[in-house]
Amino acid sequence: MRILGIETSCDETGIAIYDDGLGDSPEGILAHRLYSQIAVHADYGGVVPELASRDHVRKTIPLIKEVLADANLTPKDLDGVAYTAGPGLVGALLVGCSIGRSLAYGWELPAVPVHHMEGHLLAPMLEDDVPEFPFVALLVSGGHTMLVRVDAIGEYKLLGESVDDAAGEAFDKTAKLLGLDYPGGPALSKMAESGEAGRFKLPRPMTDRPGLDFSFSGLKTAAGTLVRKECLNLSDSDLKQTHADIANAFQQAVVDTLAIKCKRALQQEKLSRLVIAGGVSANTALREQLAITTKKLGGSVFYPRPEFCTDNGAMIAYAGLQRLKAGTDADLTFKANPRWAL
Ligand code: KG4
Repeated sequence: MRILGIETSCDETGIAIYDDGLGDSPEGILAHRLYSQIAVHADYGGVVPELASRDHVRKTIPLIKEVLADANLTPKDLDGVAYTAGPGLVGALLVGCSIGRSLAYGWELPAVPVHHMEGHLLAPMLEDDVPEFPFVALLVSGGHTMLVRVDAIGEYKLLGESVDDAAGEAFDKTAKLLGLDYPGGPALSKMAESGEAGRFKLPRPMTDRPGLDFSFSGLKTAAGTLVRKECLNLSDSDLKQTHADIANAFQQAVVDTLAIKCKRALQQEKLSRLVIAGGVSANTALREQLAITTKKLGGSVFYPRPEFCTDNGAMIAYAGLQRLKAGTDADLTFKANPRWAL
């Protein structure tokens, strides 16, 4: 089966075609294109929902034409159209839903609404080294931080989630305090490389009590307090170093917190395989720490390739195809669901 995947939940337009003829493997991705709106939102320091929707309107159809041409296919070669139906920005979601549903109707194909986070947690299935079920998944993006037990496609149990800011959101907000441009996560991570480890220590929130929930808003506030206290009247070079030291302390605090909760989740569920997905899973320090954590437990960790850590159409095509095989076909009135629970 071959399916077109459409992702428009936030600030990336991702389109892909996936074919399951070769089983779970990277070769199944016949074509994929990603257009990032970073330049559209950069001046505003964050995603402006109305601008995101308008840009998706401009880009979605041209990108669909391009992936069909890349894969040397026509709509007649497809078996379905999958689109992200939630969660996300409602206007942005509606663009993908309307285009996906309309094309499916016009092409007389089934339309498959996909949960954005299901797309993320199945993204490692697009790699050579595919994790076997069951596993624990850590989903860390700009909008979510959650630990999920995955027993099979569609069998998910939420183990814990952030009670306030998502980890990526905390990265982005702290990066802003350090004078870095949106999206700040990758820039903060780069800055942390030249920071002195151990000069500052920030809290590991909610690790001193049982449970698998997270809280990152206090950590961002603690980093802001450090910035205000330590960065007054410094020479340019001292300011640069102090910013890097705070970035290092912040990143280490997030990485340690996530690693402590992942270890707890694996032990609680008596599992040894960990899957990491979502934008923050591209973070090198996090990857290194989780490799150590899982190795100590006799397990291993699985990631999507960096380009599939962030939002993309391939993960939506893959998840949609699994849903299609299981018999999902939405009716014509299916709506975007910005707060869809996994
Ligand atoms: O999954 P994603 O592309 O979008 C959604 O939030 O849905 O994730 C984007 C988030 C942003 O907060 C971004 O700053 C963060 O992932 N991010 C990173 C890194 N790369 C992306 N955070 C820390 N280190 C990185 N290397």
